[in-house]
Amino acid sequence: MGIRSIKELDLKSKRVLIRVDFNVPLDEEGNITDDSRIREALPTIQYAMDQGGRIVLMSHLGRPKGKVVKSMSLLPVARRLSELLGTSVNMAPDCVGDEVKKMVDQLAPGEVLLLENLRFHIGEEKNDPQFAQQLSELGDCYVNDAFATAHRAHASNVGICEHIKESAAGFLMLREVEYINKALKEPKRPFAAVIGGAKVSGKLEVLENLVDKVDKVIIGGGMAFTFIKALGQSTGKSLVEDDLVDTARTIMEKARARGVKFYLPVDCVCAPEPKSGQGAVTATVQEIPPDLMGLDIGPATTSLFSEALSDCNMIVWNGPMGVFEQDAFAQGTLDITKKIANSKALTIVGGGDTDAALHKSNLTDKIDFVSTAGGAFLEMLGGAELPGVKALER
Ligand code: 3PG
Repeated sequence: MGIRSIKELDLKSKRVLIRVDFNVPLDEEGNITDDSRIREALPTIQYAMDQGGRIVLMSHLGRPKGKVVKSMSLLPVARRLSELLGTSVNMAPDCVGDEVKKMVDQLAPGEVLLLENLRFHIGEEKNDPQFAQQLSELGDCYVNDAFATAHRAHASNVGICEHIKESAAGFLMLREVEYINKALKEPKRPFAAVIGGAKVSGKLEVLENLVDKVDKVIIGGGMAFTFIKALGQSTGKSLVEDDLVDTARTIMEKARARGVKFYLPVDCVCAPEPKSGQGAVTATVQEIPPDLMGLDIGPATTSLFSEALSDCNMIVWNGPMGVFEQDAFAQGTLDITKKIANSKALTIVGGGDTDAALHKSNLTDKIDFVSTAGGAFLEMLGGAELPGVKALER
């Protein structure tokens, strides 16, 4: 793969600057609702501690767009990490500057410091060389374990590699890249991609590329309605991205030309709004009432999709089949989750919502590989070279 592993670095007494992805979901009170991304980074952090490194962790959280936003502080993460590691984790007030440098210099071997949200500085997302330089001054060596951010070209995962002498990948990064690469290079056939979620934008390129790789494409979630409209069927008040209807049609034509089977919902659970199940009815996609929107796949679609998945030997899945956070619109996602989890196929799942659906069904353990990433997972599936991975290859 051409990427060095953290195991190839001498970490003893070194300032080990580790880019992690602690972009975890928080509730309104600032409590972490899913700490998987913190847990998945533990092997790398623990290894660096055991080797006698002086650990400096950096991450983003949310999209504060270059401003300090208190609700996006990494403080709750420092607390959780402390509990998980069973040792105190200090929190820096910022991610660059003299005070931070001092805190880093004072770290003893095995101690851990978490820097404040990288995206409080505009230079992070701009991949500003000066900001990257400032970050690089906090480490003797650099480890990137943030696979979930690898589709971004930011200062802390790309620019920094130009400024720091030694860089390597952490265990999570290596595991994700190796697993997904191998699966795509040697797919077990029939190979199906199940893609859902609200919007088709952001997933178009991936879909176009996936059509070259898979045997079946199964589309659920809000994004299905842009495809349904492209077939000239009624969509009622459902979410349709009108500017993408032609592209959706082109993707379906490409699939047909390649002999790839393309599955869309045939019925859906509709309601006046996504807030409650009041007034919900099940309708075929030909008969969605004009004042209702499709919010979950219906039972006929669940049967159709389940049947299509039955003979598959590899399934990749990203995106729920409906607004599964609401019980009234969760059934389709839960049924498909069960079908995928109990399938004999090699199953690879990615994306925050998809992961949440697995947790809700208590079926995470039945999936062969659950990626910590959403966007990076999708882009890699689509065959894109991830900038955060490429930077480590230099
Ligand atoms: C993610 O959650 O997919 C990553 O942390 C990247 O976050 P972003 O989409 O805000 O860049």
